[in-house]
Amino acid sequence: MAEKFYISTPIYYPSDNLHIGHAYCSVAADTMARFKKQQGYDTFFLTGTDEHGQKIERKAEAKGVTPQAYVDEIVKGIKELWTLMDVEYDDFIRTSDDRHVKAVQKIFRKLYEQGDIYKGSYEGWYCTPCESFFTELQLKDGCCPDCGRPVEKTNEEAYFFKLGKYQQWLTDYIESHPDFIQPTSRKNEMLNNFIKPGLQDLCVSRTSIKWGVPVDFDEKHTVYVWLDALTNYITALGFESEDDSLYQKYWPADIHLVGKEIIRFHTIIWPIILHALGLPQPKQVFGHGWLVLDGMKMSKSLGNVVDPVVLAGRYGSDAIRYFLMREMPFGSDGQFSYEALLTRINADLANDLGNLVSRTVAMVEKYFGGDVPAHGEWNEIDQALIKLAEETPAKVVKRMDELQFSLALQDVWHLIGECNRYIDLNTPWVLCKTEEGQERLKTVMYVLCECIRYAAVLIAPTMPKTPALIYQQLGVTDDAIKTVESLTTFGQLPAGTKVQKGEALFPRIDIKKELADIVPTPKEEKPKAEKKPQPKQEKKEEKQDSGVITIDDFDKVQLRVARILTAEKVEGSDKLLHFTVKLTDNEPERSVVSGIAKFYTPEEMVGKQVVLVSNLKPAKLRGIKSEGMILCASDAEDKVLKLVTVEPGMEDGACIR
Ligand code: MSP
Repeated sequence: MAEKFYISTPIYYPSDNLHIGHAYCSVAADTMARFKKQQGYDTFFLTGTDEHGQKIERKAEAKGVTPQAYVDEIVKGIKELWTLMDVEYDDFIRTSDDRHVKAVQKIFRKLYEQGDIYKGSYEGWYCTPCESFFTELQLKDGCCPDCGRPVEKTNEEAYFFKLGKYQQWLTDYIESHPDFIQPTSRKNEMLNNFIKPGLQDLCVSRTSIKWGVPVDFDEKHTVYVWLDALTNYITALGFESEDDSLYQKYWPADIHLVGKEIIRFHTIIWPIILHALGLPQPKQVFGHGWLVLDGMKMSKSLGNVVDPVVLAGRYGSDAIRYFLMREMPFGSDGQFSYEALLTRINADLANDLGNLVSRTVAMVEKYFGGDVPAHGEWNEIDQALIKLAEETPAKVVKRMDELQFSLALQDVWHLIGECNRYIDLNTPWVLCKTEEGQERLKTVMYVLCECIRYAAVLIAPTMPKTPALIYQQLGVTDDAIKTVESLTTFGQLPAGTKVQKGEALFPRIDIKKELADIVPTPKEEKPKAEKKPQPKQEKKEEKQDSGVITIDDFDKVQLRVARILTAEKVEGSDKLLHFTVKLTDNEPERSVVSGIAKFYTPEEMVGKQVVLVSNLKPAKLRGIKSEGMILCASDAEDKVLKLVTVEPGMEDGACIR
């Protein structure tokens, strides 16, 4: 019987603005699921939506519709997005599904009856955007310690979950299961920053929120959204339902794939819920990094989102999937830029892969009337390439099992690159001129066609559409040679296969023109096709005429409090210092270069709070990226220079207005 493999994405908040960062997580999970399926596993891939809570309740109210009607409409759009991106899930769980609601109620009741949940009263603060409770002490300057936004006072009767009781168990579990939290750096962060300092009992019900799962034995209470949401991973499998065969078959999950900001919920609350219920733990929670744009996590409120629908419409979903999986080392943050995307499409897809296929097919047509020739004896050059082809599948498997999508693709592209080099080494256009050469050319063409077949099979999990186009051109119709099993021995492509030239797999893009067309200018938030009306002309003139700026002009400059984490001199410069600076915990650290080396030493800078122009276009100084400018005051002759700073007590990342 095939071994099972169960992978999940987080369930998404219903938003009509899912961006390429959200797609990143789903595409990664889908790629992994397809890969495992290809390897012969019996896979189950779960995704869905996290629909309850105050945020949705309020949005629906503002629109004058019921929360259910509000989310129904959005979920339709999310499903369409996944279809567009070829995200092929086995189940889509919605927390408003009856099957989920009933199971959550049973889980809550069970935890209550066994004494893990108890009734008390809650006095504290609630952050609606994060759907999280905080004590007075946890607040940062009176605001949410996670997102910095205002919190609301709550004082109500509530149920609590005894997290504290399981602190030691959780510590021991994480320490004795090194693969449970990946990458390892996240494991240390969880243990040292969150678990070891002490776990407080968690408030798991609200009486002031109606849009959620009612506690069935005390209906004025609604189950806390995270407890509700986390259990989706088992309720979707039929846990606590009449038919729990999927649960029996697939649980425990092999991988919960989650973004780094929600790893905390998945490695503290979720394992404790499971343990309290006497259930096995997921084998791994993998926290991936963020796709960032201009150094900031994409978010609707920052206005820096990139729409996957626009991208897939322009370049095709396979190109976008390839870019997402290739560009970022999985686990770290990665920059999205249109330039990087277009460069990858041209270099890797149009040139390396596309050209290899089109010129090989064209040569088979030209020299052999379109029939893949039978090969002769392999020579040393052939053997080297064949060895590489035969070794590549195992390398890919190893990389994929470590969730190193980018390295797996790098291995396939190494094979593709070597095929192109093989053409140049063998010079078919010379071989075709002599009889002896033509004999040799048969082998060269066979080797190339067979290597292309290898590449097509290996790219399938990441790029589900492209292999079919390659097989069409190569004349491969037999499904048996589209499998990974058919890659164990080289030479399974039958001689005589009829190739057929087709359209370019990935047409080359004129990058300059395309960039001008698609990249939003600072005034636009969306690509040109959806351009917003420009601000009125008079404002511009006012600024040019008098040198006076309007409040709108000033608003464009984002000034933020930044904390210096590291500082060092820039080699070969007596003016420049290179810093790593932190804004909020939710934003990636930034690299900033500043010309203050004559006035401050690196040592005295570390730990200081400075004022950063945070939305300045990144630039390179002495080859080092600078993502912002540190503000200083200086005298007319630049002899005295002092940092601009804020009074003590201000949180990192705060905006200066
Ligand atoms: N509803 C919760 C998850 C509950 S799971 C029991 C949630 N939803 S979310 O819609 O905000 O995020 C879903 C996933 O998208 C998260 O893993 C998040 O990290 C990921 N991403 C959102 N923006 C992202 C980027 N810019 N880059 C990469 N992933 C990002 O959290």
